[in-house]
Amino acid sequence: TFTPRVFSGVQPTGSLHLGNYLGAIRRFVAMQDEFPCIYCVVDLHAITVWQDPKELIEATYHVTAAYLAAGIDPVKHIVFNQSRVSAHAELAWVFNCVARMGWLNRMTQFKEKAGKDRENASAGLFVYPTLMAADILAYQATHVPVGEDQKQHLELTRDIAQKFNHDYGDRLAELGYEEGLFPMTEPIIQGPATRVMSLRDGAKKMSKSDPSDASRINLTDDADSIAQKVRKAKTDPEALPSEPKGLEGRPEADNLVGIYAALAGQTKEEVLAEHGGAMFSAFKPALADVAVSVLAPINDEMRRLLDDRGHLDQVLTSGAERAAEITAPVMQAMRRVVGF
Ligand code: ADP
Ligand code: NA
Repeated sequence: TFTPRVFSGVQPTGSLHLGNYLGAIRRFVAMQDEFPCIYCVVDLHAITVWQDPKELIEATYHVTAAYLAAGIDPVKHIVFNQSRVSAHAELAWVFNCVARMGWLNRMTQFKEKAGKDRENASAGLFVYPTLMAADILAYQATHVPVGEDQKQHLELTRDIAQKFNHDYGDRLAELGYEEGLFPMTEPIIQGPATRVMSLRDGAKKMSKSDPSDASRINLTDDADSIAQKVRKAKTDPEALPSEPKGLEGRPEADNLVGIYAALAGQTKEEVLAEHGGAMFSAFKPALADVAVSVLAPINDEMRRLLDDRGHLDQVLTSGAERAAEITAPVMQAMRRVVGF
């Protein structure tokens, strides 16, 4: 059996939003009491689409600051950026040779991100999921907290682990790895906000890449812009139902109730027990208030941290050193079984 360990990451691409916070970062924080955790700023993933170098560096600090401001402890746990630990790229190459074209061809995120002009997408964007498998498996991580959009990539991670363990099974057994080198990693996808939708379109997920800034609440938005974005969020003309069943077929209402529940630490049942029968004109200000009360302290702390780059550099450097130490024996075993 593998020692329980958590790994997850966020790309340093543009401004973080409420979906990243509720679907990922807030849950990273929650796992710290139970597991040793490794949280990565995945800058190698970011360059699968063009990034201005100066903005990439800024965004790397920004995600690091968001991790710390949200409550991740970089001393008890590990915070670092991916490009500083060479195991990620090295293991990803080996996994490119384990994964099958057919597996990667099925990935819906590639289809969405490449869009119609697939011939012009980077090769890196196509093999994004093999790098993600390497991120996780270089640490033999057993649990990965993510949003729902990453479920398919976690399935691929297990397929790669299984095929590697099988293909090199004899060599692994000779070296005493009877169970294989890599665990069958479990995604942790939980709670009322595993898929936060756009405020402008109940059929699209809230995303950094949406050209409309009004579609998302950024972690750096001030109280006024949060209130304004919530006020303008698309809704329907009905009152809120008194039970979650009544949200069926009402994606925008369902999304706002889910966001409220996640922010307030309640279930949708509890939110509707209190707000059922209310019109959006009354519910939206309550939602904006709870969003501001959760995000304002994080926002303040992020600003403070971003004024001390020396501290952030020190966190990332120490994190990368400790991360590399964990990968060293795994990489050594990988090289021996592959025949390097
Ligand atoms: P993005 O999808 O915004 O570019 P990333 O790919 O860096 O962000 O994802 C970072 C984490 O945030 C992942 O665990 C992802 O599942 C989660 N996430 C991203 N968007 C959402 C969303 N709208 N709702 C819930 N979780 C999300
Ligand atoms: Na994503």
